[in-house]
Amino acid sequence: MADTYTFDAKDLAEIKKITDKYPEKQAAVLPVLWYAQDKFGHTDSSVQQLVAGTLGVPEAHIRGVVSFYTQYYENPMGRNVLDVCTCLSCQVCGGYDMLHYIEEKLGIKAGETTPDGEFSLQSVECLGACGYAPMLQVTNDKFVNHLTREKVDKLIDDLRAGKQPEFESNPMPQHEKGS
Ligand code: FES
Repeated sequence: MADTYTFDAKDLAEIKKITDKYPEKQAAVLPVLWYAQDKFGHTDSSVQQLVAGTLGVPEAHIRGVVSFYTQYYENPMGRNVLDVCTCLSCQVCGGYDMLHYIEEKLGIKAGETTPDGEFSLQSVECLGACGYAPMLQVTNDKFVNHLTREKVDKLIDDLRAGKQPEFESNPMPQHEKGS
């Protein structure tokens, strides 16, 4: 059975603050989905349903938004989500080598989560940091640029120890899902 998710009074007050900034509720879908993901850790179909009902927006629209942006997680994810860019510039500079190295190191394939729930791995389209290729993004936040195997080793060790990477750059916060 699917999990049941609800917004409490505090959530609804926060969501009202968001929707009040827009002329119509549909325009607030992105930030409200973001709020929901922050609360529940993902925006799976149950969360999409909740957001649709709360905003009075068709579920199909919510589904379309969630499936368009890699930032919205359609399923529960690991504590750290590694988005490895495999678009053209990163691909030419070894993006797939980095992706396969991480797959090997974590024992999972892109699209999967480690059994201990520590890492989810995704192959994503351009993150707007082509000049730093090959690169990855950690949990919709920090970029790690000019990847090498050594840099990946250190990143994974640090994340396992609860240490986030230093800020390197994050020039384009929204991007499309990979095909
Ligand atoms: Fe990788 Fe643009 S191709 S960031």
